[in-house]
Amino acid sequence: MRYIAGEDISDAVRLVREMNSREMTSTIDVLGENVSTKDEAIESTRAAKEVLDVIDKEKLNANLSIKLTQVGLTIDQNFCFDNVKEILELARSRGNFVRIDMEDSATTTATLKLYEKLREAGFENTGVVIQAYMRRSEEDVRRLIEMKASVRLVKGIYVEPEAIAFKRKEEIRRNFTKLLGMLLEGKCRVAIATHDDVLIREAYGLISKLAPVKSEYEFQVLLGVRSDLRDKIVADGHRMRVYVPFGRHWHAYSIRRFQENPEVAGYVLKSILTGR
Ligand code: FDA
Repeated sequence: MRYIAGEDISDAVRLVREMNSREMTSTIDVLGENVSTKDEAIESTRAAKEVLDVIDKEKLNANLSIKLTQVGLTIDQNFCFDNVKEILELARSRGNFVRIDMEDSATTTATLKLYEKLREAGFENTGVVIQAYMRRSEEDVRRLIEMKASVRLVKGIYVEPEAIAFKRKEEIRRNFTKLLGMLLEGKCRVAIATHDDVLIREAYGLISKLAPVKSEYEFQVLLGVRSDLRDKIVADGHRMRVYVPFGRHWHAYSIRRFQENPEVAGYVLKSILTGR
């Protein structure tokens, strides 16, 4: 439960309100990925649109994050495009923004291609994610800078082969810092999404050197991870957005968080035993 708002949208609303009251914005994610039928993809599209409606109705300071495999990427790319277009049209009419999460390497090219197609279709209210562990990311960032894309920069969470991904912590950090510098110099809107103190320090250095406009960058963290760091970044005067997932399909997301930090299995056990 530490990583997830709850099963219902009302749980996400409660959490986002709490974040908003502490000077943080949010991005809401309806849990789920890799659907295998068009009906499931249509249902996910409906759920994403419902989130946009609720954000509007409840006057929350939040946007939406989606995964393309949730809305049909691996079923039919044109069908997926139409679903995302529907979501973006609604978001645009509400003055809102939709972030397209990045999934495993089997979907990277298709995800970036679909993003490009959306921009060509005139959608400015959307952005993508770049994973610093991917060797191809520098090339992708060059292309995204030309497009003046909005980019969330992360280390990357999926298990990828060494042939296409950096494996060592230091290499990933070095690439993260390099890509962040490129994006800031390229005047892209950047979301710096990490809980790594070393990278936060590097980011602070780049921000004071390159002096981006405050509205052009923000930090992002996941719900339930390092709230100490989150509060410190806000106290230091930077914008902060918290990723708030909710829904019934919490299994794959939670497993990835456990793999990142096996210590957490201990917290879970403790909370089961103590009821707290
Ligand atoms: P690192 O893993 O080194 O963590 C730094 C420190 O943070 C750790 O030492 C620990 O103290 C703490 N920490 C990290 N994870 C923790 C956990 N689960 N529980 C408790 N403590 C933890 N990835 C991706 O491939 N595609 C995507 O679209 C996204 N989207 C995304 C959005 C946002 C807002 C964030 C913050 C992250 C993502 N990610 C992602 C995940 C990202 O790729 C990465 O796996 C995690 O952020 C962990 O990497 P860190 O940079 O935090 O460093």
